[in-house]
Amino acid sequence: MSAVTDRLPTFPWDKLEPYKATAAAHPDGIVDLSVGTPVDPVPELIRRALVAAADSPGYPTVWGTAALRDALTGWVERRLGARGVTHTNVLPVVGSKELVAWLPTQLGLGAGDQVAYPRLAYPTYEVGARQAGAEPVVYDDPVADLDPARLKLLWLNSPSNPTGRVLAKDELTRIVAWAREHGVLVFSDECYLELGWEAEPVSVLHPDVCGGTYEGIVAVHSLSKRSNLAGYRAAFVAGDAAVLGDLLLIRKHGGMMTPAPVQAATAAALGDDAPSGGAAGAVRGPARGAADRAGGARLPDRAQRGEPVPVGDA
Ligand SMILES: Cc1ncc(COP(=O)(O)O)c(C=O)c1O
Repeated sequence: MSAVTDRLPTFPWDKLEPYKATAAAHPDGIVDLSVGTPVDPVPELIRRALVAAADSPGYPTVWGTAALRDALTGWVERRLGARGVTHTNVLPVVGSKELVAWLPTQLGLGAGDQVAYPRLAYPTYEVGARQAGAEPVVYDDPVADLDPARLKLLWLNSPSNPTGRVLAKDELTRIVAWAREHGVLVFSDECYLELGWEAEPVSVLHPDVCGGTYEGIVAVHSLSKRSNLAGYRAAFVAGDAAVLGDLLLIRKHGGMMTPAPVQAATAAALGDDAPSGGAAGAVRGPARGAADRAGGARLPDRAQRGEPVPVGDA
C-alpha cells in the first residue's frame, strides 16, 4: 500500500455494506438511502448544447471558453447577488468532488496544517485533508470551536448534506469576518444553494456577507443537482482571484480540463435561469407534485421501490 492510501478512510459506501446486509435481512427489506444520483432527465436545452459541441477535436482549456466564463460570471451575479465578478473570479472544475478531494493538495497544504469541516458532512472534505497529509478537524460552530493558529482551510456547506441545515446570512457574515481576521481561507460548498426548502440559502459571495470583496472566500457550485448533470461532471468555483489564479496554474499543469462539449452544455444550463428541468426547477416549481419528482417529499417511497434518490454521490 502506498503512503497516500494508508492515510485514506474506508470508502464510505464500502463502510455501509455490513449495515446494508443487516437491513436487507429485515422482513420488510432495506430502505437504501446510501448512494443517491439524479434520475430526472437532462433538460433538452442542455442536451442540444452538448450535441452541438460534439465536434471538438482540439484540447479544451482549463479556464474554459470565454462564453463559459461569461455564463459563470453572469449566473453568479444574477443568482447569488454577487457584484463586479470578472473572468478572474471564476474557474470551471471537473465536477465538484474532484475539487473537494484535491483542493488541500493543490493549495500546498500538508503536515502541520489543519482543514476544518462540519462534524456531519460530505465525506470528501476529510479525504481531501488526508490526501494532502493535513490534519482533518470537525466543528459544530467554527468560530466557537476552532483554533485558527494552524487552520488553513475552512469548509462551509449550506444547505448541508446530509443535515439540510441552512446557514443564515448573519451566521455566514460572522464566520467570514472571523476567518478573514485570522487569515483562514473559506471554501463554501454551495452545490445545494438553489434547493432551499424552508429557508432561502445565501451565498458567501453576497455583498451582505462578504462586503463586496472576494478576498479569502471562494464558493463551490455544481450542476449535478440543479440541472441533473451528475453524468456530465460540470461544476465551478467563484471568488478570490488570487486563489483561483493559483489553482488555474496548478490545474493547467495537471491537465484538469472540463471537456469542450460539457463546457458548452454548462454555459447553456447556466443561461437558463428558469430551469425547464433539473432538481432546482422541480423544487422551485409551483406544483408540489414536481417536488416529489426531485425527491424532496417522497424520498423514502422512492428508496423503498429500490430507485436511486437524488442526494449524495458515488
Ligand atoms: C455537499 C456536496 N459537495 C459536493 C458534492 C459533489 O458533487 P459533484 O461532484 O457531482 O459536483 C456532493 C455530491 O453529492 C455533495 O453532496
